[in-house]
Amino acid sequence: MADDVVLSAPLFAGLDEESSLALVASMTPLEVVRGDVLFHEGESGDRLYIVREGKIKLGRRSNDGRENLLAVLGPGEMFGELSMFDPGPRTATATVVADAVLLELGHDELFAWLSDKPGVSQHLLQALARRLRRTNEALADLVFSDVPGRVAKALLDLSTRFGEQVDEGVRVAHDLTQEELAQLVGASRETVNKALADFAARGWVRREGRAVVLLDVDRLERRAR
Ligand code: CMP
Repeated sequence: MADDVVLSAPLFAGLDEESSLALVASMTPLEVVRGDVLFHEGESGDRLYIVREGKIKLGRRSNDGRENLLAVLGPGEMFGELSMFDPGPRTATATVVADAVLLELGHDELFAWLSDKPGVSQHLLQALARRLRRTNEALADLVFSDVPGRVAKALLDLSTRFGEQVDEGVRVAHDLTQEELAQLVGASRETVNKALADFAARGWVRREGRAVVLLDVDRLERRAR
């Protein structure tokens, strides 16, 4: 089960086609449906996953039960690697948001590949560095940006993963509930709803259940700055 989406994951960058296909062959395909939990924060973990289809959310829960989403990942993205490189508990819970097909790779197989093909490590480091950049930016936004600015940014970010060009703009089928969208932005559902209603009233977006159409990307980009 190899295709361009899977092979675009950092794990395969720097591998020739033959090696990539051999690595894919050593991975286990997994079909999961909305609501399935792949692992919980705090569990020990010895495998990573690549998304072939669907969407996965990575969330953390506070002691008083509130949830925060670190990311929503789509095709070609990887998760579950942190507790393999730095053995310890999973740093987040991985839950299926839209029915998904994943490829699973165990610790021993990964490390056998890394010692055989050191070039793979370089690309994995690059992927981790990119994730840290994003996390730093999200942290700064939490401190410096208001909720509407963060909502605009979250919509633009989701559009780079799940956006589809339509006549009126970009349709983003994020598959998140209002609650999940609020958890991603790090604000209450009411405040996020208010921001979305305001964007809709200005003609910047149109809401469609678990999707949103971005009608004026320029304005959203300016609001996100
Ligand atoms: P691990 O800690 O094994 O399990 C949870 C996974 O969530 C983690 O590996 C990463 O793959 C992913 N993850 C953790 N923090 C972030 C983040 N800030 N942004 C994106 N993904 C993350």
